[in-house]
Amino acid sequence: MIVTIDGPAGAGKSTVARTLARRLGFGFLDTGAMYRAVALAGLRRGVDWDRQEPLAELAGRMTLQFEDRKLLLDGEDVTEAIRDSEVTAVTRHAADNPQVRSRLVELQRRIAGRGNFVTEGRDQGTVVFPQAACKIFLTASAQQRASRRLADLQAQGETTTLDRVLADQQRRDREDCDRAVGALKPAEDAVEVNTDGMTLDQVVDHLESLVRKRA
Ligand code: DC
Repeated sequence: MIVTIDGPAGAGKSTVARTLARRLGFGFLDTGAMYRAVALAGLRRGVDWDRQEPLAELAGRMTLQFEDRKLLLDGEDVTEAIRDSEVTAVTRHAADNPQVRSRLVELQRRIAGRGNFVTEGRDQGTVVFPQAACKIFLTASAQQRASRRLADLQAQGETTTLDRVLADQQRRDREDCDRAVGALKPAEDAVEVNTDGMTLDQVVDHLESLVRKRA
């Protein structure tokens, strides 16, 4: 059984999806981490971001493996490196690249296509697993999402302001929604859940009951 969780940045998808997967005894696939890993590889190689081919070629050659909670890029643990703000800033080049997307979609289907998985991203219910048994679209108000992001960044030792995080979030939302392939939008049969004012446990309880009804 596949459960897809899509939604904008900062809606709490990662923590919710990981916790839900653990409760259900399902595997968990963080697809944003894969786009970040391609961007990290591009940064390290110094690829020309204005051309799509070099990054697509790199994505075609690299190996990505999930091991426990780690992501390995060509065998190297890049779990922390892909969260750097330098990587976040260039990840759109990977996400906007149709060839990179098709390679990662193929990989996502190979990893999660058999067995029980919770997969998390932007296009999981619409493009990658249109037949998924349960599709969730997780949202929250812009203010709440930005506050969460600010807390995360501060915990990582970055100094920034709520206004800056809000402006950055607006830009990323626009990029996610305007993407020609794999744009962020709810699947027609997705259940929309707004997490404003809910605790992590409340959100996960709610999703777990949705999944169990579909199972
Ligand atoms: O969820 P995240 O912030 O780790 O995602 C990183 C970037 O990858 C973000 O800009 C959106 C993009 N992304 C995507 O285009 N498709 C996905 N399935 C997952 C993430």
